[in-house]
Amino acid sequence: MHPRAEFFATQQWAGGVIGMGYVGLPLAVAMTKRGLTAIGYDISQSHVAALNAGESSIEDVTDEELQIALASGLTITSDPVDLGRADAVFIAVPSPLGRHREPDLSYIKSAAETISTIVRPGMLVALESTTYPGTTEDILVPAATAGGLVLDEDVFIAFSPERVSPGDDLKTIDIPKVVGGVSSVSSEVASEAYKRIVTSVHTVSSARTAEMAKLLENTYRAVNIGLVNEMAQLADKLDIDIWETIDAAATKPFGYQAFYPGPGVGGHCIPLDPQFLAWRAREAKFSTRFIDLAEQVNVGMPAYTADRAAAVLNRLERPVFGTEVLGVGIAYKPDIADDRESASIEVLRELEKRGARISVIDPVVGKERVESHGFTFVDPDADLSVFSLAVVLTDHRVLDLADIATQVEAVLDTRGAFRKLGTIPDNVEVL
Ligand SMILES: NC(=O)c1ccc[n+]([C@@H]2O[C@H](COP(=O)([O-])OP(=O)(O)OC[C@H]3O[C@@H](n4cnc5c(N)ncnc54)[C@H](O)[C@@H]3O)[C@@H](O)[C@H]2O)c1
Repeated sequence: MHPRAEFFATQQWAGGVIGMGYVGLPLAVAMTKRGLTAIGYDISQSHVAALNAGESSIEDVTDEELQIALASGLTITSDPVDLGRADAVFIAVPSPLGRHREPDLSYIKSAAETISTIVRPGMLVALESTTYPGTTEDILVPAATAGGLVLDEDVFIAFSPERVSPGDDLKTIDIPKVVGGVSSVSSEVASEAYKRIVTSVHTVSSARTAEMAKLLENTYRAVNIGLVNEMAQLADKLDIDIWETIDAAATKPFGYQAFYPGPGVGGHCIPLDPQFLAWRAREAKFSTRFIDLAEQVNVGMPAYTADRAAAVLNRLERPVFGTEVLGVGIAYKPDIADDRESASIEVLRELEKRGARISVIDPVVGKERVESHGFTFVDPDADLSVFSLAVVLTDHRVLDLADIATQVEAVLDTRGAFRKLGTIPDNVEVL
């Protein structure tokens, strides 16, 4: 084993994390739980102050877990000097798309600049932010070696995608970690380090493979969601229940994985990640037809959902214009407060454009965020009889959907939520 790999496999080392968000905070807490010294670094001073006060910003780390981690030595800081004490630095900063759907690498570049100021002999640098194949080589290697440190002698560089799904039971440490270094030595060193944090590591031959693996996973999801969304539209035309159809197909013990229709894809992974690949493909003069087709279908779902909502109102002999519509849930998935890129919001915008008066019930996302979108916030205990239509967009567990259905004239269920409850009331139409 390479001596530095042995160091990470056997010694007590310090791990730094750049970016204390959905990905970075659980990683830092996981390192503390595993008995390593963890240093979380974030440029947002207010965020650092809140975390140091023991207030977690995300569902996957409770305040109590954070407080225990802080008491066990977790440092959270905005000072790069503190980060410089780390033997390994993991980068978990945002990687959004720009205005023209091109990768916006400004956060990764800024983190790489920080690395160039703190890098020292023996350091492992691992990028976790989702990005196109080649980013780790293109951006991190030059930044980490600019001061004269030599790759694989003084500094070791790898990519390891984060695969966590916020709000789900499987946590960072339970999900196998794909690790690929920019060289075989870097792969080995990074893999040994990750083995100290997570339960299972799958080492690949290059950082580019690890980058591509993450994009393949999420493209697979986007394409299959696109497929089932198209099937849902077809099933409606043929007067077939798509949900019953999926349940039937899913009894096949091999060759079929169930995906479910919905109002569109949301969050900061599924709508975005395939675009990294599509962008890189364009550079290589290659066209990613599955990605483009899935995007076309998925992007069309909010308008399709609004059409279905309008059809429900039509049957009630009500126009969309001026009618009170209740959006039930605006997070991009159940049981989390994250509403970034949420298709639920797109559906409500579409109905708003057609003149509907939109209110939202979403105790998980909360009043402040709901109102930031310009929607009226409805308290969960409020009288809902004013609403002609409730559109179930995100089925948070805390929402009493059966009760909502008894109060409004009609419901459009875009998530198959009432099927999960076991009864579909007469006034509920399923997407
Ligand atoms: N959230 C998820 O479910 C998820 C899952 C898998 C992968 N990812 C990927 O992980 C990466 C991070 O996503 P996230 O959801 O944790 O983001 P986030 O927005 O929750 O957190 C990012 C944090 O980084 C900080 N930051 C930004 N620039 C910085 C800099 N230059 N130096 C230090 N701190 C900086 C921000 O202040 C913020 O606290 C992205 O590439 C994302 O695509 C996210």
